[in-house]
Formats: sequence, C-alpha cells, structure tokens
Amino acid sequence: MDLSLVGPGRAGLAVTLAARRAGHRISGVLGRDQAAVAAAAERLAAPVLSWTEPLPPCDLVLVAVRDDAIAAVAERLSGLAGEAAGAAHLSGLTSIGALAPLGIPGGSFHPLQTLPTADSGADRLAGAWVAVTSDDDLLGDRLFALAASLGCHPFERADEQKPLYHAAAAAAANFTLAALAMSRRLFDAAGVDFAAATPLIDAIVANAAAMGPEGALTGPVARGDAGTVRAQVAAVRAAVPELAEHFIAMARATAAIAGTSDRIEEALR
Ligand SMILES: NC(=O)c1ccc[n+]([C@@H]2O[C@H](COP(=O)([O-])OP(=O)(O)OC[C@H]3O[C@@H](n4cnc5c(N)ncnc54)[C@H](OP(=O)(O)O)[C@@H]3O)[C@@H](O)[C@H]2O)c1
Repeated sequence: MDLSLVGPGRAGLAVTLAARRAGHRISGVLGRDQAAVAAAAERLAAPVLSWTEPLPPCDLVLVAVRDDAIAAVAERLSGLAGEAAGAAHLSGLTSIGALAPLGIPGGSFHPLQTLPTADSGADRLAGAWVAVTSDDDLLGDRLFALAASLGCHPFERADEQKPLYHAAAAAAANFTLAALAMSRRLFDAAGVDFAAATPLIDAIVANAAAMGPEGALTGPVARGDAGTVRAQVAAVRAAVPELAEHFIAMARATAAIAGTSDRIEEALR
C-alpha cells in the first residue's frame, strides 16, 4: 500500500515505520513542526507534504494527530484529499465521523498497544490487537490487511462501541501503572528496592492472562483477612500519609472484586 502520514508523532511514526518494514511505501509526511516532519520524512524515505497542496494519490491517509485535533486537521485538509482512497485516524475513542470533512471514506485503526516512543512502538506492534472501525467495506478490508501485514490481530469495533472499549484499554494500560507507581513509593519508604518486585509483577501479569484477573487474585483483601489489612493501612498512614487514601481506595476496589467488602470495610475506615 501507499500510505500518507499526517502527524508524525509517536503513534503515527510507529505505525509507518512498521509499515515500511512490512513493505508498504510512505507517499509523504505532513505536520506542523517542520523539524519533526523533516526527520520523519527522512526515516520513512518519503517527501514532505504541504498543508496547501493536494495530498498525493495513496491507498490510505493516516491521520495520527492527537484525538482533540483530528476534526480540525480533517477540516484543514478539506478539498485536498480527493486523490486518496481513504483515511483513518488512530484513536480508540474518537468517532470516525471526525474525518468526514476529508470527503473520502474514513475509519479508524487503533493499536491496542502502548507506543511511548516511535521505535519501541514499531517493535511492539507485531502481536498487538488493532480495533478497526469503518462504514466502508473496501476501507475496512484495507485496514484489516494493513494490520495483518504488521503482524497485528485486527478486530471490528462499531463507532458507538468505542468509548467503553477505550475505557477498558485505559484501565488495563493506565490503572495498572498507577498501582505500580504507588507500590514503588511504598517499597521506597520501606527501604526495599522496587526491582525486587519484578518477578512478582511478571508472575501477576502472566497469571492474569492465564487464569483471568479475578482468579489470579491473592492476598489479605482477597482472603477477607481484616486484621492484616488494618495493620497495612496503619503502616501506610504512618510512613506515607499522602498515599493512604489511594491505598484504601485500591483495597476497597479489590475487595469489591473479590467479594470481601463486608469483611474488609471496617478495617478500611
Ligand atoms: N501513543 C500511544 O500509545 C497510542 C496508542 C494507540 C493510539 N494512539 C493514538 O494515536 C494518536 C496520536 O497520539 P500520539 O501518542 O502519537 O501523540 P503525539 O506523540 O503527541 O503525536 C501527535 C502528532 O500530532 C501532531 N498534532 C497535534 N495537534 C495537531 C494539529 N492541531 N495540527 C497538526 N498536527 C497536530 C503533533 O505535532 P506537533 O508536534 O505539531 O504538536 C504530533 O506530530 C491519538 O489519536 C492517540 O489516541 C496513541
């Protein structure tokens, strides 16, 4: 395929770097920051495009700008995308209707993967799942084919299903890190190197995948051991008081999932 990239940030560059490795061609790169655009164009062996000239003929325009800029960018490119067969943004949340001003079939291609930098993201795309949304069969087929060519597993998401799907993705990607960040600060306060927890964290993630998160749950909250939970809360309050409310909120959420709220709640108060 010939792909044009609008917004050479982390996700856009990750997808296009992986696409080039998979044998696709990049027809051009468009963006605001000309230094970033030039660097991306060089890496992708592609020309720099202009905001005032028609986009080149291509199979797909990847609109990889921030979610809140997708509609404005589509508006800005209105009348300039007629030579492209279709466009897709990379947001798991934003409606595909945001691309309507382009006047060509529009969809979305959301890698269910964290892409913190372009290079690590490009490496991690193989094996990731990709949510594809499109009302146009040809574009949908093209987005599935692009995902498969990157070694990804594409699956369909209707536009109206995206917000709940995106909330689930955020819970997996972000809430786990918030819990680990809290854990790291508690280990620091306890004088234990956080690296010591790495085998434990690896096992938790593997168990969650193998047994389901509920089945993998262990520990005093899951057992309904109120005395141990009370002692933990007291220790956190004494050593890191600013984390106590977060610790209690996480324990309360864990108890609700484990079905032990009635036994644990008093210890949390
Ligand atoms: N990173 C991830 O882990 C990840 C994973 C899956 C999906 N996504 C999706 O990928 C999309 C891009 O996210 P990202 O993480 O790659 O963000 P990013 O690194 O901040 O890159 C965003 C790109 O969009 C450009 N941009 C922003 N506002 C613009 C505007 N008004 N006009 C023109 N260009 C504009 C930025 O250029 P400037 O430098 O000029 O601002 C930059 O090139 C989002 O829809 C996001 O939900 C990201």
